[in-house]
Amino acid sequence: MKVGIIGCGAIANIITTSIVQEENNIDIAYFFDKDIERAENLASLAGGVAVLDFDDMLNDVDLILECAAPVSVKEYAPKVLGHGIDMIVMSIGALMDFDFYHELESLAKDNGAKIHLPSGAIVGLDGIKAVAKFGLKEVSLVTRKSPKSLGKNIDTEEVLFEGKASDAVKEFPLNINVAATISIACQRDIDVKIIVDPKVDRNVHEITAKGDFGEFKTTTMNYPCAANPKTSMLAALSAIRLLKSFNETICVGM
Ligand SMILES: NC(=O)c1ccc[n+]([C@@H]2O[C@H](COP(=O)([O-])OP(=O)(O)OC[C@H]3O[C@@H](n4cnc5c(N)ncnc54)[C@H](O)[C@@H]3O)[C@@H](O)[C@H]2O)c1
Repeated sequence: MKVGIIGCGAIANIITTSIVQEENNIDIAYFFDKDIERAENLASLAGGVAVLDFDDMLNDVDLILECAAPVSVKEYAPKVLGHGIDMIVMSIGALMDFDFYHELESLAKDNGAKIHLPSGAIVGLDGIKAVAKFGLKEVSLVTRKSPKSLGKNIDTEEVLFEGKASDAVKEFPLNINVAATISIACQRDIDVKIIVDPKVDRNVHEITAKGDFGEFKTTTMNYPCAANPKTSMLAALSAIRLLKSFNETICVGM
């Protein structure tokens, strides 16, 4: 499988470093970033090609992995899917624009492509998907991050946001993709609270789901990536796992 990457930052570095280290049939061949130096650095690590023009990789890949920013999904996803190329999207907040979501869904269907959204920095998505259409009554997310991660300079805990996921991703587009992932998984605009907490050094996500099935709560206490404290290590690891799953015969927990 030949892969092209959009966005050569923290997530792309973790994924590329891991994939090139072991035997697999994943060839990360092309690297694109608005900062060409970042693309070149990663391309040299993987023995791939840094492209200046995004279109240069489109005709030679099986899959595009987006790990750049929500704006890049708007910019490039229609082109990728229009070419019938599968895509992994990390900046999932971009899909909380529901007109855009349906536009991409139609483009993918019409051109025989698939859009993959990794579980990212949370656990529990399997359960949410399973119960989504079976009496799920309530889903909420409480996210707690350090001031550094949220770009704040405060020394007491503060609730930064309380409301719907669609508004959370507008206010914190690079910080709250998990709210979008859960919303898309259960097809509803979930309740979100974002807390900035000087006492934590991890990105903590607590999900609560209640319904006819019973109730579950999950807590994920993520170490942030060294290169980008907004981003959790687990987000990159979930994308690596997804990439590898395309080669598997027995798929568990998906
Ligand atoms: N799904 C999840 O659970 C999850 C978790 C963490 C981060 N994310 C998202 O994944 C994305 C990447 O995260 P990261 O930590 O690697 O970010 P990063 O800032 O470390 O790297 C992003 C890279 O993309 C490049 N870039 C940005 N906009 C671009 C554009 N329009 N065209 C080309 N290149 C562009 C930047 O130059 C940078 O090199 C972000 O949108 C982030 O919000 C998702």
